[in-house]
Amino acid sequence: MRVTVSAPGKVILLGEHAVVYGEPAIALAIDRRTRVRARPSAASTTINGEPLSAHAHAYIRQAIQLLWKDEHGLSIETESTVPSAAGLGSSAALSVATVGALLALTDRFSEEECARSAYDVEFATQGRASPTDTSCASHGKAILIGPDGDRSALWRIRRGERSWTVQGIELPRLTLVVGSTGERGRTADQVAKVARFVDRSSFGRDVVRDIGRLVREGLEALRTEDLRRLGKVMDRDHALLTILGVSTPTIERMVAAARPASLGVKLTGAGGGGSVIALTERPADVVAAWKRMGHDAFIAEPAARGVAVEEKGDPT
Ligand code: MEV
Repeated sequence: MRVTVSAPGKVILLGEHAVVYGEPAIALAIDRRTRVRARPSAASTTINGEPLSAHAHAYIRQAIQLLWKDEHGLSIETESTVPSAAGLGSSAALSVATVGALLALTDRFSEEECARSAYDVEFATQGRASPTDTSCASHGKAILIGPDGDRSALWRIRRGERSWTVQGIELPRLTLVVGSTGERGRTADQVAKVARFVDRSSFGRDVVRDIGRLVREGLEALRTEDLRRLGKVMDRDHALLTILGVSTPTIERMVAAARPASLGVKLTGAGGGGSVIALTERPADVVAAWKRMGHDAFIAEPAARGVAVEEKGDPT
């Protein structure tokens, strides 16, 4: 039996970091995917032909420990168009696609099970984290994740004192440009940095609550298809993320360069480097502005499909 499972990367439209503390966030799957092909093998487990390594394959190893109880090893191959350490959910896409492959091999595949197990994998590998990236890579499209879900919720995930409800949301037509700072931001470092601020200061906690309010306003702007208002909310969210200390001089330069051609522009994901997103009616101008500065940029197709079994059967 061999399976191929793929999962998308994501951008966080609003609410990163605050979501770790139970505030809502909105995340969109993008048309960049990680693909994992897996089959049981008589030999010991290999990843892209190399022996499984705790250091190089931390997420895959964790997924195997969690889900693979078979005496056989596994032959796993991966490929990805999600840039790594760029705030675009590459580790979540890898965790979801790997978990999806292992679940498909054992006839237990479902979107929800992928979201739950991949969050366990990310949490064990990376420490303090919310299920935003893994739920987005599992469901795809657009999700609202937060404390207060309604009956249409897809799933609820608990960890310690926190619990998050994940809902699918409708998106109006919108164009996002993603620009890469070229700096690698480690999510765990940025989450720890924000935690030091938030755990020690009531001002930090106020900023987190203010981000939560902005996400609710952004949701309203999406519902009423008011992209100008949404852009303003993104700008304000970026200002609050800067106060949390996760912006960098490069991010600030990219934000300033994109602003004249954008409805709203902000860092996306953990920050400390990574990527910047612009909501714009002039995507070519934003791409050109960032490319002139030497940064990679692309127009993202939001609302990509979630985790998908692309192939399941006996290898021919
Ligand atoms: C990272 O993509 C999003 C953060 O909010 C961390 C998390 O939610 O686990 C920064």
